Amino acid sequence: MRCSKCGREYSVNSLAFRCLNCNEPLEVKYDYNFLKTVISKENFEDRIWSLWRYIELLPIEHKSKIISLNDGGTPLIKSTRLAEFLGLNKLYFKDESRNPTGSFKDRGSSVGVSKALEIGVKAVGCASTGNMAASLSAYANRAGLKCIILIPHKTPIEKVLQILFNEPIIMAVELPYPELYKMSFEMNRKFNVYLIHSDSPMRVEGQKTIAFEICEQMKWKVPDKIIVPTSSGGNFSAIWKGFKEFYEIGLIDKLPQMICVQSEGCAPIVKAFTEKTDLKPWPKPNTIAHSISNPNPLLASGKRVLRILNKANGLAITVSDKEIIEAQKLLAVKEGLFVEPASAASIAALIKLIRNGKINKDENIVCILTGTGLKDMEIVRKQVKAPIKIKTWNEFERILSQIG
Ligand SMILES: Cc1ncc(COP(=O)(O)O)c(C=O)c1O
Ligand SMILES: [Zn+2]
Repeated sequence: MRCSKCGREYSVNSLAFRCLNCNEPLEVKYDYNFLKTVISKENFEDRIWSLWRYIELLPIEHKSKIISLNDGGTPLIKSTRLAEFLGLNKLYFKDESRNPTGSFKDRGSSVGVSKALEIGVKAVGCASTGNMAASLSAYANRAGLKCIILIPHKTPIEKVLQILFNEPIIMAVELPYPELYKMSFEMNRKFNVYLIHSDSPMRVEGQKTIAFEICEQMKWKVPDKIIVPTSSGGNFSAIWKGFKEFYEIGLIDKLPQMICVQSEGCAPIVKAFTEKTDLKPWPKPNTIAHSISNPNPLLASGKRVLRILNKANGLAITVSDKEIIEAQKLLAVKEGLFVEPASAASIAALIKLIRNGKINKDENIVCILTGTGLKDMEIVRKQVKAPIKIKTWNEFERILSQIG
């Protein structure tokens, strides 16, 4: 592993996840010149449709240690009715809600827990806004490892129940989210818990396969734009790493423009990028998109996201809660896709970018739908009407006859 900032190197089997020099995230590096000679597009063709089809680009040495629930291999869905509504010709959704526990987090949990088994640690852990904890606790169970979870005390109940059912050691912490992050570092440094955080190197390895799959699903044509709901920045960094690696080994011939989306109520990365200032913690996060509300990505991958945005002509944009709710609804009524508010932020951003003239209607655009709507029903409950109540066949027939 190599520090994403200063380049210092670490063993891929060490418990370290951040650089001891500069505290920036570590990244797994491969011998791309060698990989060029052994990987071709045809390589993948006959393999199982899961993230493990990219085994040469994953840091696991012993296949017997792989812990999988058939993660990844999610569909890339071509938009029809929403694209027409928005006046776009080539809009796609990468639907990560189809992963085993309902979010993209399963990709990183699969690789992270496999590595934990390979190294021989006894416990894995993370601080999470909910999805990662639900995912990690499931994979830890499959591996027979202890799992220690820190969640904010206001985590949506659907997520809490999903985590509790897996029976990890779980603490709901009544402190600001950055404190949970610091507590998790303590678990790692003092108690040898293997952290599989939003931006830990193994999680990034798993999540980069989103980019690999998109390349294959688009028949090796690279999208012009990728829109990613962003909180700690691990997934944004991972998707970029995936495209970079395929580019470096010669499987694709260009890189997409990366678009980072945050909620207006918690947008530290977008603020630093657009105002060209240092990344600072967001004082009071306030958004319905709980999964993208880490107020201090300085402790995670915030600076790495800024490095990528600056290096690669990226874009960063905020969306309001109102825009998120409208986008979540549009996706359901136009396409039948039900995602959580954080995921809908990608669609809200798309709509705003069209309005601002930043999108050409013929561009290939991929919105990452990061997690399922079933994980956070509070907002849904506030929007829906009760079903029509009937007690007789007559009422039933009267209603049907009115439908037309
Ligand atoms: C549904 C969903 N979308 C987006 C994100 C943001 O990912 P990251 O923290 O890697 O930026 C998360 C993180 O928890 C999430 O659960
Ligand atoms: Zn460093």
